[in-house]
Amino acid sequence: MDLVILGASGSIGSQALDFLKNKKNNWVLKGFSVGKRVNVIDEIVKEFQNVNYITVKNKKDYLIYKKKYPHIKFYYGDKGLIKIILKNKNATILNALIGFVGLKPSIVSLKKDRTLLLANKESLVIGGELINKILEKKGKLIPIDSEHVAIKKCLYNENVSDVKKIIITASGGPFFNLTNEELKNVTLDEALNHPNWKMGKKITIDSATLMNKTFEIIEAHYLFPYDKKIDVLVSRDSYVHGLVIFKDKIKLNVSKPSMLGPIEYALNLGKPLGNEFNDVETNTIEKYNLLELDKKRFNVISYSDFVIKNKGNSGAILNSINETLVDSFLKGEISFIDLTQILNIIMKNSKINKRVSYYNYHKTHYRYMKITRNYIKSRRVLCK
Ligand SMILES: NC(=O)c1ccc[n+]([C@@H]2O[C@H](COP(=O)([O-])OP(=O)(O)OC[C@H]3O[C@@H](n4cnc5c(N)ncnc54)[C@H](OP(=O)(O)O)[C@@H]3O)[C@@H](O)[C@H]2O)c1
Repeated sequence: MDLVILGASGSIGSQALDFLKNKKNNWVLKGFSVGKRVNVIDEIVKEFQNVNYITVKNKKDYLIYKKKYPHIKFYYGDKGLIKIILKNKNATILNALIGFVGLKPSIVSLKKDRTLLLANKESLVIGGELINKILEKKGKLIPIDSEHVAIKKCLYNENVSDVKKIIITASGGPFFNLTNEELKNVTLDEALNHPNWKMGKKITIDSATLMNKTFEIIEAHYLFPYDKKIDVLVSRDSYVHGLVIFKDKIKLNVSKPSMLGPIEYALNLGKPLGNEFNDVETNTIEKYNLLELDKKRFNVISYSDFVIKNKGNSGAILNSINETLVDSFLKGEISFIDLTQILNIIMKNSKINKRVSYYNYHKTHYRYMKITRNYIKSRRVLCK
């Protein structure tokens, strides 16, 4: 079975490659993308000798590497991410890109009737409505996110009409117990030091603000569109990933925090995985130390309701502002509390439109990126 990995140099992409390397399986890696970390290309090409297509972010890297590997077809830029999907006509696509750039490859993969193994949760946050419309006719989507895979496992062989509530868990991140006053002084390094998970930088910051959980509620809404309540509980050690409350029982999925399980689940095309199916059936969840999430303190959680209720371009607005702010925070331009404070200000003045199209999401993304950047810039001028 042919496979293309988008985002092969990242945290999820490289773990997917490790899985392919270390386990016996039927996958043949035909193509992959990297962004700026082109230094990983040599090792991947050496290990996976059936690779025919590679795409990189920048033209200068494209020019270097296409000379180095004349037997491989190279592409670059956002268009390269689409070409590599189209050229590998039968391939399953594993989308481990981060942020808005992952949306179009997801849409194109499904429109081309492919199976999409989706780590790029921003695709569903921004375009869940469009993606579900496409899925009514074409393509197949299997998530790669620990909470959603946990829920899928809990729902396996169960009747959806027996479900009362779906609950995903949050670790609470590194600052769970800090006061708002204390949050003012946290550093970038502290924000990047997640207590349980080792992930890419952007999702690590999203986990510290709890925006990652906001995104995951939206993601769950589109993955499990059963009109059931989706809620969050805190599992500080990330041992419980998700639970489903049925009319007559509770099912949980538990394991040490690791993305290998969800990656393996997706690469097994969503079929059960023998012993690694860590489902627990119970009548009480007391012993799992699950805590309520203080939704007033972590107010970004309320944006999940905002996006689910408003649909249209509301997810694109939220994602764009957040993506731009996280980028600024990683560059040291704004403080940790600015991430939520500026977001709240710009969200308050945002204007929703209901059009369900990639064009609308794209336009919204760049519009709110500009608004957010201008806001950060004008504030810096005022502070000088
Ligand atoms: N990491 C986890 O444990 C985890 C868990 C659950 C869900 N997820 C989701 O999985 C997705 C990937 O997360 P991650 O932590 O793996 O991110 P990451 O480590 O930052 O990797 C992101 C990948 O995307 C590439 N990329 C970024 N911008 C690009 C651009 N403009 N053009 C082409 N390629 C680009 C990066 O390339 P370069 O680095 O080479 O520039 C890298 O290969 C996210 O949506 C995240 O929310 C991650």
